[in-house]
Amino acid sequence: MRINKKMKNKVSKIGVLTSGGDSPGMNAAIRAVVRTGLYHGLEVFGIMKGYQGMIENDIVKMESRSVANIIQRGGTILKSARCKEFLEYEGRKKAYNHLKEKGIDGLVVIGGDGSFRGADTFSKEFDIPCIGLAGTIDKDINGTDFTIGFDTAVNTAIEAIDKIRDTMDAHDRVFIIEVMGRDAGYIALHSGIATGAETILIPERKTNIDSIVNSLLEKERRKKLVNLIVVAEGHESGGANKIQEALSAKLPNAETRVCILGHIQRGGSPTCIDRVIASRMGFHAVECLITGRYNVFVGIQNNRMNYIPLHDAVKEKGKISEEWLRIVKILAS
Ligand code: F6P
Repeated sequence: MRINKKMKNKVSKIGVLTSGGDSPGMNAAIRAVVRTGLYHGLEVFGIMKGYQGMIENDIVKMESRSVANIIQRGGTILKSARCKEFLEYEGRKKAYNHLKEKGIDGLVVIGGDGSFRGADTFSKEFDIPCIGLAGTIDKDINGTDFTIGFDTAVNTAIEAIDKIRDTMDAHDRVFIIEVMGRDAGYIALHSGIATGAETILIPERKTNIDSIVNSLLEKERRKKLVNLIVVAEGHESGGANKIQEALSAKLPNAETRVCILGHIQRGGSPTCIDRVIASRMGFHAVECLITGRYNVFVGIQNNRMNYIPLHDAVKEKGKISEEWLRIVKILAS
């Protein structure tokens, strides 16, 4: 599809930015936005450090070569930030003035639900159409089966946990591994199932430490001494160190160790899935802008593009399927 005069196209210069926590695949998304925009005859600008670059006028013209050789790279060539100033009207006004100076009349925001809320407010106040692309390792956005970076993060976690399992097994230890996920347990759930974890602790579910203790005691009676506990950083216990403290107090004979995987999960070369979904989402984001489908974010559901109003992009909370939790319980025996 190329732009034709019948289309409701008001957009001729677009900006693209990455905001919030970075995620592997953001570069592939930037590349898709830039090249699709240029294909349709638009001018494309890269905005550095998310909304902060809009406020500080750190905006650069992008050409096809600007995004060469980045599809395989983690991080984001545009850099990212969580910008407090953009939460205030004055900050957003400054940002708007800088866009106006350059004639930028459409925006693609790659980030999570917080970034989408910012884009929604901004588009309403200043009549600049914004399109969101779901980019977060946490996969905690309603309306999309995938977010850019989740698959890579989970595969990084799996690789690390598999290695820990080798040494854990050699010493008959209980290992408590903390993965990312401040509000969402998807990384813990996926990486835990994929590595055969005995226990998975997620923010969406309450967990009684005594029940973990009882289950470890029962396993000890069966001579099953190796136990892997995967906990999301946002679990109510306070994370891996707190769980270790609680377990050590109640199970003095168990050898427990902790490993916090941390930001290693946010880096690295994106997987095939993340590169492909980022390319698809980036491509469709630009098509949204040129066809007048404004103020939505682009998700993928059942392998089809899904366009959800930005103001509905709430964090997906508590939606973990009971089926998955049953699987964990049964397979961990
Ligand atoms: O991007 C999401 C996320 O990785 C969360 O899982 C984590 O809690 C948070 O970002 C960490 O943020 P920061 O890099 O600012 O410490």
